[in-house]
Parts: sequence; structure tokens; C-alpha cells
Amino acid sequence: MRRVLVAGNWKMHKTPSEARVWFRELKRLLPGGGSLLDSEVALLPAFPILPYAREVFGEGPVAYGAQDVSAHREGAYTGEVSARMLKDLGCRYAIVGHSERRRYHHETDTLVREKVLRLLEEGLTPILCVGEPLEVRERGEAVPYTLAQLEAALEGVELAGPERLVVAYEPVWAIGTGKNASPEDAEAMHQEIRQALARRYGEEFAARVRVLYGGSVNPKNFADLLSMPNVDGGLVGGASLELESFLALIKLAG
Ligand code: G3P
Repeated sequence: MRRVLVAGNWKMHKTPSEARVWFRELKRLLPGGGSLLDSEVALLPAFPILPYAREVFGEGPVAYGAQDVSAHREGAYTGEVSARMLKDLGCRYAIVGHSERRRYHHETDTLVREKVLRLLEEGLTPILCVGEPLEVRERGEAVPYTLAQLEAALEGVELAGPERLVVAYEPVWAIGTGKNASPEDAEAMHQEIRQALARRYGEEFAARVRVLYGGSVNPKNFADLLSMPNVDGGLVGGASLELESFLALIKLAG
């Protein structure tokens, strides 16, 4: 019912020239250039790389998108990139609310919600990141913390369909640490997220929204994570940077 999504968040890695070579190689190595996969593959590189993603992948099966978007539509906002610009570049997705943006750029739930709205207005699908820091998990408050982020970002947000939203559960303590959430812990949180979506949008709708896991996903742990009924793919940092490991993840996703 839900197509597995393997999404590579490159963060601030690779230059445009490096990425262009990498994209071509990936396309060459994917079965049918990606058209023969059951799963969906998406790449989320830095903004200056996006024109090369369009050049190589175009409107083909490999999707691409951005790691962030402005909360404003247009105007005097130096350094910002609008959803309209991303749409013009052919982006299907954009990440919002990544914990690195929340932490280093002080992004609030209110701002994250505005970004979700800007993306939806332009027909892009937000990959909405939620997840708790270590101290919150240790206090036993991971579920309410994570659901509060989810609820705040989706407050009053109407979705034209379940494919118009992807949620990524990324426990902060698992990001870049080599220490992933156990498949059981991930599943438990994904269930909570789906139930929260069901309360807001109805059971049937929520059953079709993809919920990804992110945080130290690698070719060794991905199959176990994917075997969980509510884990619909991965938002992958480090392991999406090397062709070999990214291809291994795609293979596991089918
Ligand atoms: O958005 C993906 C990310 O935060 C996870 O990073 O390097 O732990 O896979 P990594």
C-alpha cells in the first residue's frame, strides 16, 4: 500500500561538479535508470546542486528535492530560497524541520509549519522531520515530545492526499552517531505517529502516509528496520554519500 522511499539527505556535502558525476553514475547503475525499482529513490542535495539533479534525472523515476525552504513566498529575504524556485527546478520534495535546522538555526515549530504550507502551495511534498533528543528519551518523554512537533507542524494544514506528506522520525541521538534506534523502538514511534495522523486526517488517509526512519541507517541495519510494518523507508545521511552504500540500501528496499 505504501511505496518504500529511500531518500538521501546529503547535508552540506559534495560540490555541484562532484554531484553531477555521482548522479550520472547512479543513473547508470540503477536497474532501468531507476524505472525498474519497486521502491522510490530521492536525493536531497544542497541548493546549488539541484540544477544538476534536474539535468540528470529530469522527470524520470529518481526524485530529488531540497533540504530546506523559506517560510516566505517571495521578497526581501536575503539568502532564502522559495518553494516556487524549487518547483521551477523540478523538485518533488523538500525536508523541513530537520533537527540540525532546529538546533543550529533555531527553527521553531511555528516556522516549520509555515514551511510546510509554502511547499504544499507549490505542489511539493514536505518531508517533515520530528524526533527527540537523548535527554528527552531518557526522561521517558520521547513520544509526547515527538508528537508535539508533529501536531504543531500540521496544525490546520490541509492535505490534498496522503502522498502530499512524508514524515521522517529522526531521533536526534541517532543522527550521525552510528547508533540507530532499534527496529522495535522505531516501530513503536512510527505507530504513534500514524495514530496521530489518523486522529487528524482519518484512519484510511493515515494508513497511506509514508513514515520514514532516519538516524544512522546503513546497509547492515536497514533490512531489519524495513521489516517493521510502519517503517516505510529511510531518510539517510552518511550512507547516502557513497554510491556503494546507497545502492545497497536501494537494493534492500527492492
Ligand atoms: O536526515 C538524515 C539524517 O539526519 C541521518 O543522518 O548520517 O545518521 O544517516 P545519518
